[in-house]
Amino acid sequence: MTTDMNTPNPALPEIERDPARMRERIAAARAAGRRVGFVPTMGALHAGHASLAARARAECDDVAVSIFVNPTQFAPHEDFGRYPRTLATDCQLLGEQGVRWVFAPEVAAMYPPGAATRVVVQGPADRFEGASRPGHFDGVATVVCRLFQAVPAGAAYFGAKDWQQTVVVKRMVRDLGLPIGIIVCPTVREPDGLAMSSRNAYLSPAERLRAVALSAGLAQAGRLWSEGTGVPAIEAALRQSLAAHDVACDYAAVVDPESLEPLADASGPAIALVAGRLGSTRLIDNRELPRR
Ligand code: PAF
Repeated sequence: MTTDMNTPNPALPEIERDPARMRERIAAARAAGRRVGFVPTMGALHAGHASLAARARAECDDVAVSIFVNPTQFAPHEDFGRYPRTLATDCQLLGEQGVRWVFAPEVAAMYPPGAATRVVVQGPADRFEGASRPGHFDGVATVVCRLFQAVPAGAAYFGAKDWQQTVVVKRMVRDLGLPIGIIVCPTVREPDGLAMSSRNAYLSPAERLRAVALSAGLAQAGRLWSEGTGVPAIEAALRQSLAAHDVACDYAAVVDPESLEPLADASGPAIALVAGRLGSTRLIDNRELPRR
């Protein structure tokens, strides 16, 4: 049986591919007094995305979710080509969460031929992911800015798993005066602690077992932090956790959660950030460290 995604079905969200029409739909809902929440995604949805949609649904009258694998945030050697594209199953999951619209534009609609404008982000974008993936956050900021034009919601929901992304997006919204609230929602984890990520699908069974190194290292970092251990020793323990599971460490750091700069006050609060590679798969995770 084939399914026409545009056939009206109360259980499925309406799919809109055109940015201008999407904008009109959101504007009409808001003009009618409805609160609209927005969840930007690249698809390949999992329970973490479902939790964002559920939170938005709980706080808003209508929810829009974008599904767009954004080419400008991938370097040429990265996984843009093989990034999973699962629109039909994504729409099922979003229908179950009561999502009203899926915005799924083509690349040419988001980046029309001749497009010559992009958003350049510095400051909190410079380190960690920004250093490991040059240009990545310019691509994220550019597409998020463009998505906010197409989906002019009152609030946008992002996962804390991509902590640095949330910091960069909040900074962009503040710097450009964009009229949207940014809500950061907790990371959803597998039973063994691995943070949910669309890229987990790339892991072989053996890599999947070793991937627990990130969350286990962060849990240990949390314990060390609460015992009063210094930042260099916590960072060393994080690197050791990755090494013990044969995970190549890109970075392991404890920094200020808003600026992502070294801590000015050793009592925090802080954020522990980690990135590691298992074969060709790169995973990130983090843990908030409360004031001690
Ligand atoms: O977090 C993501 O899935 C992406 O970076 C985002 C925010 C949808 C922009 O492409």
